[in-house]
Amino acid sequence: MSDAINLDGPAIESPSVDPAESATAKQSVPVKVAGRVDRLPPYMFGRINAMLYQKRRDGSDVIDLGMGNPSDPPDPIVVAKLAEAAADERNHGYSKSNGIANLRREVASKYYRKYGARLDPESEIIACLGSKEGFSHMCLALMGPGDTAMIPAPYFPIHMYGVILASGNVVSLDVADPDKFLSNVAYTCENLTPRPKVLIVNYPHNPSSATIDPSFFVEVVRLARKYQFMVLHDFAYADIAFDGYQPPSFLAVDGAKEVGVEFTTMSKGYNMAGWRVGFCAGNAEMIRALGTIKGYYDYGMFQAIQIAAIVALRETEAAVEAQSVVYQKRRDVLVNGLRRLGWKVTPPKAGMFVWAEVPEQWRKAMSTMDFAMMLLEQGDVAVSPGSGFGPAGEGYLRLALVENQQRLRQAIRQIGRCLEKASAAQA
Ligand SMILES: Cc1ncc(COP(=O)(O)O)c(C=O)c1O
Repeated sequence: MSDAINLDGPAIESPSVDPAESATAKQSVPVKVAGRVDRLPPYMFGRINAMLYQKRRDGSDVIDLGMGNPSDPPDPIVVAKLAEAAADERNHGYSKSNGIANLRREVASKYYRKYGARLDPESEIIACLGSKEGFSHMCLALMGPGDTAMIPAPYFPIHMYGVILASGNVVSLDVADPDKFLSNVAYTCENLTPRPKVLIVNYPHNPSSATIDPSFFVEVVRLARKYQFMVLHDFAYADIAFDGYQPPSFLAVDGAKEVGVEFTTMSKGYNMAGWRVGFCAGNAEMIRALGTIKGYYDYGMFQAIQIAAIVALRETEAAVEAQSVVYQKRRDVLVNGLRRLGWKVTPPKAGMFVWAEVPEQWRKAMSTMDFAMMLLEQGDVAVSPGSGFGPAGEGYLRLALVENQQRLRQAIRQIGRCLEKASAAQA
């Protein structure tokens, strides 16, 4: 039959011109990135990092207080367990995307031991590839076009851009005074239509080091119920605190599990930043939603890392406490040194940073970014300009406690010399 389909014939005509020779063959395709990529601002620390890299390549011994990247090693028993688990051939396949049961159980037991909070490891805890991954994907699970999140100002970038990448909107609220922050949350809920869907909180706060007492979260839960928003608490600095202060867990408050979740990490207190181990705990429905998204995006964490993380959680509490003492001593060196230079600095009660107001003489003369560039260029000390954390950070610097005491003393001397010279040039 003439109209029968010839199943053996070519689906299309063979090209008459060799494609390699045609004019279009070598044309590149225009790369049009999605709107969500275009909406991200240029990386604020790009200038600083480029200069830092250049200086180090030229042989300068820059003291780097820029990033909150722990420089001390994890407890040796954790590294030994990783090596042992990595040598076991059963640990090399895909693991469970939400984390192995024993790891989630260990997190539940730490929550009970430290905060008296009871969590079901099956439905109320999920392991994440670092808390930032969990936080970002939680934003994707909860937020969409037209949804608003209230976030702290100044902000750790992912608190803002996790929401933006999920196509949501943000209202940023001054974080410095916890009572004012809470009254601004209530005011925003009363006045914004539609009402905010999510509240993002982070105490001890990065970058400002602001802290709270447990009654703060009682009020958060009350407001969440009243105005029907969900709560995401980023508790990255749970394990680093000074002078007897104990950062409170959101999940220790009655009713917290009904309204939100909390993110914790092994990056900071356990010195395991590169390992990418974090957790999200709390509301089972929110955790299920995060698990659904993660089930599509990733296959979970390398099982040997999960096994070593269990050992870290179970057996290295003393090392975590000792690490806080290390940070406290560094804090004292840095705060006292800056005060000797005439800076107004409040010693942080927790976290890995000193949030220091730039002296007025320099605030009047230049932006915080230019001031940070000057310290790097002429003083060989890298710090983060507060403006990298949004407009509310202008006028401040964030200095990470990631160098030892001797290097911090050296940093103070270098900052002092740099500013003396710059003052002389200014006069
Ligand atoms: C407030 C805050 N949240 C989350 C993170 C990211 O932690 P992780 O390494 O668990 O992704 C950091 C790291 O600097 C942080 O400062």
